[in-house]
Amino acid sequence: MTLLRRIKDAMSQQQSAAPAPADVTVARRRDWWRDAVIYQVYPRSFADSNGDGMGDLEGVRSRLPYLRDLGVDAVWLSPFYASPQADAGYDVADYRAVDPMFGNLLDADALIRDAHGLGLRIIVDLVPNHSSDQHEWFKRALAEGPGSPSRDRYHFRPGKGENGELPPNDWESIFGGPAWTRVADGEWYLHLFAPEQPDFNWEHPAVGDEFRSILRFWLDMGVDGFRIDVAHGLVKADGLPDIGDADQLKLLGNDVMPFFDQDGVHEVYRQWRHVLDEYAENELGPEGPSAEGRWRATGGRIFVAEAWTPTVERTAHYVRPDELHQAFNFQYLSTDWDAKELRAVIDRTLEAMRPVGAPATWVLSNHDVTRHATRFANPPGLGTQIRTAGDRDLGLRRARAATLLMLALPGSAYIYQGEELGLPDVVDLPDEVRQDPAYFRGAGQDGFRDGCRVPIPWTREGSSYGFGAGGSWLPQPASWGELSIEAQTGTAGSTLELYRSALSVRRTQTDLGAGEAVEWLRAPEGVLAFRRGEFVCVANTSGESVTTPAYGRVLLTSGEVTEADGEAKVPADTTVWFTTA
Ligand code: NOJ
Repeated sequence: MTLLRRIKDAMSQQQSAAPAPADVTVARRRDWWRDAVIYQVYPRSFADSNGDGMGDLEGVRSRLPYLRDLGVDAVWLSPFYASPQADAGYDVADYRAVDPMFGNLLDADALIRDAHGLGLRIIVDLVPNHSSDQHEWFKRALAEGPGSPSRDRYHFRPGKGENGELPPNDWESIFGGPAWTRVADGEWYLHLFAPEQPDFNWEHPAVGDEFRSILRFWLDMGVDGFRIDVAHGLVKADGLPDIGDADQLKLLGNDVMPFFDQDGVHEVYRQWRHVLDEYAENELGPEGPSAEGRWRATGGRIFVAEAWTPTVERTAHYVRPDELHQAFNFQYLSTDWDAKELRAVIDRTLEAMRPVGAPATWVLSNHDVTRHATRFANPPGLGTQIRTAGDRDLGLRRARAATLLMLALPGSAYIYQGEELGLPDVVDLPDEVRQDPAYFRGAGQDGFRDGCRVPIPWTREGSSYGFGAGGSWLPQPASWGELSIEAQTGTAGSTLELYRSALSVRRTQTDLGAGEAVEWLRAPEGVLAFRRGEFVCVANTSGESVTTPAYGRVLLTSGEVTEADGEAKVPADTTVWFTTA
């Protein structure tokens, strides 16, 4: 009996053995994702169950109750597939297998089931732009040589120059250096990322067939959705034209490039949407919290695009009604802590999403950028890759305020593991422990991503602060015990308790994620103020304390707000939530 067969049998037995309890409300919310808070787990760095210093699926499973109690709706897992780990798992050798370092398919199955039991949804990462160079297809392509059909599934080309010694075009890898590598028989292959990540040729029908089959594999396993890696990169411009002088080293492409955001990519997603829509909704519960108490919710399955496009308007193309459901809002992530700039990007995002009927999304951190507690600790204008610690207290104050602002906006929000602890980026990792492939390729723009990937602290003391029994694959700073989940749980004013309160308010007392507009209120320079029904959010991004009208009862605040005589004093870098209810 194959492993998958065994998993499926086990699944059907469990399903028939667990009739729905009679006392639960059945809430049918196919569109749960429109206002969902989705928590990104970076499996290497979340929790290590077997003491090998590397996080794993069993570690994630054992910590699901923490995520349920935090109050998120879904968990997005970065890749855990079989991979040589040349790019921390974004180089997949087998899309239908779990890498032994993370566990096996049975662990994945147990994780999905337990999550559903707790009312949490699971979104997995799909990497369709490129495979690992250890993928069977690429190994065959190399072995079978020039002119063989197996080469057509990737982009192989003869070189330029007298003896083909020059790359076929002038494209550069996002990680630095040429985007082409020459193989022993003289041909070159394209890799927009590391040489160990050859790009698929999406003009070849076998590639599309394979990915639709991979989608089905994981949908059959019960996942609730997919985060699509480099969603804007699959289709390349005809003839792979040279770029010329453009500055090519823009992180994942903020400029129009012949390898990014080509219109042809949308046809791929229209086909994928058909596949997804064939699948029944997953049933959750019975233990998820809600305003109504115990509940059983069902919901549709979703796609979220990692598409770095030049504008939010271009991003909106990916979430047209017959394509994907959400796209990360990287314009928001890249915005400094500045009221004017934030208001502009919020308005633009909401306007861009309205005509396509997709929810806006909001995100401040992920595994590719400097954590926002450190970004905001530094002067504005430095972008998303920052290598200095800056003013940590200031960074944390702003990060907390930025979180309350983000969670007050209509749409769906993403949280990156550890931001709920206010973790800073680890900017002083010794070079010998670094693993980011971009670091080794020198000229890459984002060579310091290890700093946001350091395993998170669970306990005050002990081996790797409770991450696991055997150390951690990247060293944690000595100060992290005091930032641990244990240290912050139940501690008044801690960042963790702020997140818990904010998520609980958002979920149970107000309908913050719903809707598609905010009503801006007059506010002093450097301050954002908006109303959403009975709710008002005031975010003071200025370096000074300001006085605003007291819009109602203070629901939650990221700092010390005082109210007197109908006015509220909001300190510098502080956000406050009011209710008039
Ligand atoms: C985007 C992922 O988030 C990043 O970590 C990865 O290196 C590239 N895509 C290549 O897959």
